[in-house]
Amino acid sequence: MTDSAPFPVWPGPVLAIETSCDETSAAVLVGRTVRANIVSSQVDLHAQWGGVVPEAAARAHVEAILPVIELALRTSEIPLEGITAIVVTNRPGLVGALSVGVTAAKTLAAVRGLPLVGVHHLEGHMMSPWAWVDDHAVDPVYPHLGLIVSGGHTELVLVSAPGRYELVGETLDDAAGEAFDKSARVLGLGYPGGVAIARIAENGNPQRYALPRALPKDPNHFSFSGLKTAVLRLVEKEGAGICVPDAAASAQAAITDVLVQKALASADYHNVRQLAVVGGVAANTRLRTELQREGARRGIAVVVPPPALCTDNAAMIGLAGSFRLATGSRDGLGLETLPNAPLPPNP
Ligand code: KG4
Ligand code: ZN
Repeated sequence: MTDSAPFPVWPGPVLAIETSCDETSAAVLVGRTVRANIVSSQVDLHAQWGGVVPEAAARAHVEAILPVIELALRTSEIPLEGITAIVVTNRPGLVGALSVGVTAAKTLAAVRGLPLVGVHHLEGHMMSPWAWVDDHAVDPVYPHLGLIVSGGHTELVLVSAPGRYELVGETLDDAAGEAFDKSARVLGLGYPGGVAIARIAENGNPQRYALPRALPKDPNHFSFSGLKTAVLRLVEKEGAGICVPDAAASAQAAITDVLVQKALASADYHNVRQLAVVGGVAANTRLRTELQREGARRGIAVVVPPPALCTDNAAMIGLAGSFRLATGSRDGLGLETLPNAPLPPNP
């Protein structure tokens, strides 16, 4: 680390593990550079049930975890003997799923005599834009605002210094990813909904159907439950005559318009000039381009990680863990898994 580094990181190679929901992932980082980031998705498994089944997720993690770790090490060209610390998501998430990654991490740390640190999944998402992957290398400025948009979260987090998080806003009802997923289900587009809507919306007219954009007065709050009901009503009203690409494009526009307006209003409200957009929904092309265009117009730099670092992955966990290790955090072999947990404490 140099004096000009925006935040401290652990200097040696780190092995990171993420199993909090439906992706089994392992990554190797050296400083901020991602040397390998392997993700084994369970999407096809859970598609038959239309959502994540916790017991099935845990079993699939058990099957995938060792091959995924081995592949991450091989891809990074750093053998296990070269790894200097182990980091793992231990909260929040599905406890059965988390336990698989945490057990693997503890075993590796014990056998190799390495430091171990548990990472908060959302701190991983918050750190994802600052990882160096291919030609993506962006520095945070402090303070900045984080917009976390995933299947379970729509949150605004003010980051006043490295690791200093303040939750300043959230959805009053559904998460943005949930709005995508539920709209997709109503439109018969299957699971997971975000990608399905984005794909079919490419051939649709976003102005065809008028759908509500709920804009609660407080600049920090979101609401998406009305949209789901409106899409359901639209399907009932139009029946077989509905144009699905147009409906998908209209739903996508309604969700992304709200995110763009509210996130930039909140950035202004908190007087920050950098907005980091993270989580699975940040992979959405329309959201990325609209935020960047509108942000540029208003003098707010919008940073979005490469799509592979938006959805759940171990690289982001590795960077958050590296930062925690460098600021002195250590966990013992008693590290617990937690279904719910507040944002991590100041380092
Ligand atoms: O961050 P993530 O992988 O998992 C959670 O922690 O929830 O986010 C998953 C969510 C799902 O709701 C999925 O539909 C949405 O992200 N998503 C997308 C896209 N890719 C994933 N939503 C819109 N457009 C996409 N391209
Ligand atoms: Zn996530």
